[in-house]
Amino acid sequence: MKSSWKFFVAIAVVFVVLQCVRPGIPSKPATAEIEVPAQIHRILESDCYACHSDQPRLAWFDEIQPGYWLVRKDILTARGHLDFSTLGSKPAAAQKATLYEAVNMIQLGAMPLSRFVALHPQAAVSPGDLAALKTYLSPWAPLPAPSVAAGGSGFPALSAEAPPIRLEGVSAEWNGVAFDPSFESWKPLSFTDRGDNNTFRFILGNDIAVQAAESGRISPWPDGTRFAKIAWQQQPGSDGLVYPGNFVQVELMTKDSKKYATTDGWGWGRWRGVDLKPYGSDARFANECTGCHEPVKGNDYVYTPPITSAPSTLKEAVNNRAAALSATLPYQPLRWTPITMFVDARTRTMSTLYGNENAVKSLHARSASPAAPVYDPGAVLALATWAQRDDPHWFGGRIPDIPVSVEFVTVRAQNALAYRRFDGPNLAEAHPSSASIGQRTSFLVGLKPASLP
Ligand code: HEC
Ligand code: HEC
Repeated sequence: MKSSWKFFVAIAVVFVVLQCVRPGIPSKPATAEIEVPAQIHRILESDCYACHSDQPRLAWFDEIQPGYWLVRKDILTARGHLDFSTLGSKPAAAQKATLYEAVNMIQLGAMPLSRFVALHPQAAVSPGDLAALKTYLSPWAPLPAPSVAAGGSGFPALSAEAPPIRLEGVSAEWNGVAFDPSFESWKPLSFTDRGDNNTFRFILGNDIAVQAAESGRISPWPDGTRFAKIAWQQQPGSDGLVYPGNFVQVELMTKDSKKYATTDGWGWGRWRGVDLKPYGSDARFANECTGCHEPVKGNDYVYTPPITSAPSTLKEAVNNRAAALSATLPYQPLRWTPITMFVDARTRTMSTLYGNENAVKSLHARSASPAAPVYDPGAVLALATWAQRDDPHWFGGRIPDIPVSVEFVTVRAQNALAYRRFDGPNLAEAHPSSASIGQRTSFLVGLKPASLP
């Protein structure tokens, strides 16, 4: 009995001594508070400021060791990532982008940290508060009308095109991940319309990625998988459709579970602008990538549900609905090369123009970007149009839902053009009037390829 008594005294002494070992948590008045309406500020303050501000508010029990150490560590890490007390010094667009990330972290259950909510239930974001944040962000506000009337075909007027750069000469990222110049020939896995930052994206995969997507072996994705995500600014055309405008960046993810073990098994890289300048200023840029991909850990850190008919037991890991093209179509274009895409906000549809090998060869042979593309005999274009739906993984994004129509233009000998259209739930062949055939044929053939560096 005596020894157990001594034991408890020892524990009590250690406990008391621990309370005295107390590294501080720096606290100071906010220098540049995030600029949001009072209602939004109140939500962030009550649910997030404990960790993401310069004035931590601790509950009395957070002050008790050893819990205090853990809370302190969370606060310091959290501030390093995001500090609402200084965010106001950033441009409005950057503040908004952070709020989108915040909403998505909340929606995906990653924030506030669950170990914190367990002890501080009042920090859980209520459905009403989440809805208020979403309403405030309202991603689908209409884009400004085009300032310059674009030429006949409805293409947006682009700024002067930069001369193409040599892809082989592009520098590696700060973390050593090399640029892969072959990305332009990878196959499409999906397309997104991002209302949070008004961009369109192609998500492409190398052969290993495509095979994995087609067999449903995607979580984890096999070593050697590579993804490219290409982003363009959205630009409204004079025809009411929204097209890819200026090129923004390309991002690559390379799976190597051993080599990249410290960054979730993926090598990350982002190259910005037409000169493809590596992003960041040191290797720490990759924390941004892993931080924001963390909520989709259950999908091997991959956001995109690839458009494939492969079954998957994981929820929303593949996009079967968009892949439902009927077997009776004259061609299956989903793995052809995407040439461009556009969105029709009036019908809430998104479309991708695909080209077969001959179509892409014709484009490359004339890469000096003529006013309109010219396709050689043997070229086939396919315009797939889907209903849009909200991206289940990212508030502010939209992805293809069920197919609405597929149109084909075949270039025959002497450049004769043949048009066919398939519509409706079963994609049955339609029999459009000859006026409509003429109009759609010239529309498809005249679509300008999305610009690449
Ligand atoms: C208990 C402390 C804590 C609370 C409360 C908390 N967070 Fe965090 N947050 C963290 C930590 C720690 C990280 C860094 C995560 C990591 O590195 O894995 C983080 C990271 C983030 C990030 C990623 C930032 C980046 O750029 O990498 C976002 C966004 C975020 N939190 C939003 C929120 C929002 C919104 C709330 C309130 C609804 C919230 N957090 C509440 C601790 C917290
Ligand atoms: C603010 C959140 C955020 C950050 C930061 C971020 N990503 Fe992503 N990433 C996404 C979302 C959302 C998608 C889904 C596609 C889309 O809508 O753009 C995505 C998709 C991708 C894809 C296509 C494969 C997939 O996971 O769907 C690649 C490649 C990619 N990101 C690379 C990067 C790299 C490299 C970085 C860091 C330089 C990075 N990402 C940082 C949110 C983020």
